[in-house]
Amino acid sequence: MSLLFSPFKLRDITFKNRIAVSPMSQYRAKDGYANNWHMVNLGRFAMGGAGLVYAEATAVEVDGRRTPGDLGLWQDEQVEGLKQVTDFINQEGAIPGIQLSHAGRKASERRPWHGETPVDDEDISIRDEAPWKAIAPSSIPYADGWPAPEEMSDADIERVITSFGEAARRSKEAGFKMIEVYAAHGFLVHQFLSPIANKRTDKWGGSDENRRRFAVEVARSIRANWPEKYPLAFRLSATDWLDGGVEVEETVETAKALKAEGVDIIDCSTGGISGKERPRRMVIEHGFQVPFAKQIQKDADIATIAVGFLWDAKRCEEVIANEEASMIALARELLDDPNWPLHAAAELGADENHAMWPIEFGWWLMKRERLLNKLGIK
Ligand SMILES: Cc1cc2nc3c(=O)[nH]c(=O)nc-3n(C[C@H](O)[C@H](O)[C@H](O)COP(=O)(O)O)c2cc1C
Repeated sequence: MSLLFSPFKLRDITFKNRIAVSPMSQYRAKDGYANNWHMVNLGRFAMGGAGLVYAEATAVEVDGRRTPGDLGLWQDEQVEGLKQVTDFINQEGAIPGIQLSHAGRKASERRPWHGETPVDDEDISIRDEAPWKAIAPSSIPYADGWPAPEEMSDADIERVITSFGEAARRSKEAGFKMIEVYAAHGFLVHQFLSPIANKRTDKWGGSDENRRRFAVEVARSIRANWPEKYPLAFRLSATDWLDGGVEVEETVETAKALKAEGVDIIDCSTGGISGKERPRRMVIEHGFQVPFAKQIQKDADIATIAVGFLWDAKRCEEVIANEEASMIALARELLDDPNWPLHAAAELGADENHAMWPIEFGWWLMKRERLLNKLGIK
């Protein structure tokens, strides 16, 4: 029996299997509004058999967008477009999740294929997209050549915490059943957590506990606006891979503090706090971040999602069977094959006769397979 394809429950929500579509920004929204692209993109992952389908990093404030094409939930009018997407995902038997985000000092960035450099006045003439001012815990640029962000005042901090709560309320109205806070990859919540980006000397910086305060307050603000019955996740960079940055032992303590605020699961990624250059300590190989998911799950006694460079169904099965994590998330593998979960189910013996497929596909594929077998072709 496959454990990757066994159900998993968090609060009142049951995922039909342990496979999540990792949040993947499309940079395709206009003024933060979802459109047909988001429907088709996320819809095909639901049709492809994933148990949890995360919508991409979605800005809780207009200035918290990373790029001009980011999705947003900073105003009520943005709910409707996403509601159509979640209706479809629900209908296909997957759980719709959303990643709430504020980019902090990474705001006002060009899309990857436009250079991943700061937006400037040139973008106005090329794409009619103007730069905007970024805010951050400290006035330290993200990388060489980036403008210095404005240091957040107490009022800025309180406002962004409230914005996360309001976006949570809109997420519920939009039909999402799970929220993940983007607290990894150098985005605002991670900027507060990491001593590399946070040099504050007030209650928001300095000690581990002070740097953790913003994440804890964000969790509290969301929980106050998000139904008890629905799960809350945080994506953390378990390590910055840099001396003087966050190390996994500290992340274990952050996970414990978040658990106390009603966070149910930690999505365990790494890196991204400053610049595009890969830290020397970061060695990428198949499933290289799984050990962090395992350690956090065990030491903080909280469920985890393992993510990063996973593609082999048998290895994913092992991760769940060995209790290295409670779920796995895939990104690029699903871009290559949105039906990966259905193919993995066949490979692991969890689905015979294409029964897991949408009937409109499975019916024909089952008949074709029978014929191929009968003819001795396959
Ligand atoms: C197109 C694309 C967009 C991404 N956007 C996000 C995002 O919005 N939020 C996030 O947490 N990670 C984002 N990521 C990172 C993925 O969620 C994932 O953690 C990473 O790609 C490693 O998983 P993989 O090896 O399965 O691709 C993105 C990755 C890709 C390929």
